[in-house]
Amino acid sequence: MTVSVIVPAAGSGTRLGQSKPKAFVDLGGRTILEACVAGIVEAGVADTVVVVVPADLVDDARRLVPDTTVVAGGAHRSESVRAGIDAAGPDADILLVHDAARPLTPPAVFARVVDAVRAGHRAVVPGLPVADTLKQVDPSSGPERVVATVDRDLLRAIQTPQGFTRDALLRAHADDTGLATDDAGLAERCGIEVHVVPGDPLAMKITTPWDLRIARDIVAEAGSAGRVASERSEPAYRDHSSSAGRVASERSEPAYRDHSSAGDSSAGRVASERSEPAYRDHSSAGDSSAGRVASERSEPAYRDHSSADRLGDHPPEHRRHP
Ligand code: CTP
Ligand code: MG
Repeated sequence: MTVSVIVPAAGSGTRLGQSKPKAFVDLGGRTILEACVAGIVEAGVADTVVVVVPADLVDDARRLVPDTTVVAGGAHRSESVRAGIDAAGPDADILLVHDAARPLTPPAVFARVVDAVRAGHRAVVPGLPVADTLKQVDPSSGPERVVATVDRDLLRAIQTPQGFTRDALLRAHADDTGLATDDAGLAERCGIEVHVVPGDPLAMKITTPWDLRIARDIVAEAGSAGRVASERSEPAYRDHSSSAGRVASERSEPAYRDHSSAGDSSAGRVASERSEPAYRDHSSAGDSSAGRVASERSEPAYRDHSSADRLGDHPPEHRRHP
């Protein structure tokens, strides 16, 4: 079976707020795009890789990732994915769609997704248990009013790569209503069953400056990102292969903590302190220097929530699959 990986990398990275599109931002000496493609190559599952970038950066991308097919994307993520599907051609039996914005995704995640598609599932996504308590709110006025507390044991935070048989991905995108936030969402809407395999904290999406900082810390600490990333992902892999969702959730906590404490020994504590003012920031910004820094950092999150609908494929973070 021929496997093609489509890498949507044509977004502008609005929430990251850098001067260049997100995939072209530095991640420890190479671009996020290069790191992402290197991860795919390391995974060893792909016969071909198609990279989808902004039209004016096609030549740059061809220089950065010469062993891939590079094509121009569209205004919305799903349009970029369709450009990738076209470029992958009719020979790909299995198509993986993998966000460039998840450059630290360990090889084992690719393997699990491909294995599940090979085993007969038409649509497969990696997902993680959710650690936070989740509440549904009515955001219409004032401080958001809590409507309900959602049962998190039944929820998964969905990542990429998302794997499909060719016919399933074609059908999903033929029915694109523009409402789904990922490819599996499109598949669901046209009645295709989607299955979840264990994801990995390292498959985190770089969305905000905070995410970029964490990813850079991980890479800096690793030195060689791929090797250490794989080592780190092992416990998560074992955790989630457990059939008990609750146990997996508890066991995955150290892996989460591990990310917040990347870097030197004091980094975890500093990160933790800094995140507190960001929380307060949502209700009333503090005026200490820590509060001000947190406020600046949290701005992309505010923009995310207010401008999501205008951006089309960028629903609020609490509605999207991160
Ligand atoms: N993407 C794409 N084409 C688009 C929009 C997004 O290929 N028109 C890609 C992004 O490059 C990214 C992935 O889809 O790899 C997930 O999107 P997201 O994280 O939202 O990235 P951006 O759209 O670049 O960021 P933002 O929404 O903050 O502008
Ligand atoms: Mg986007």
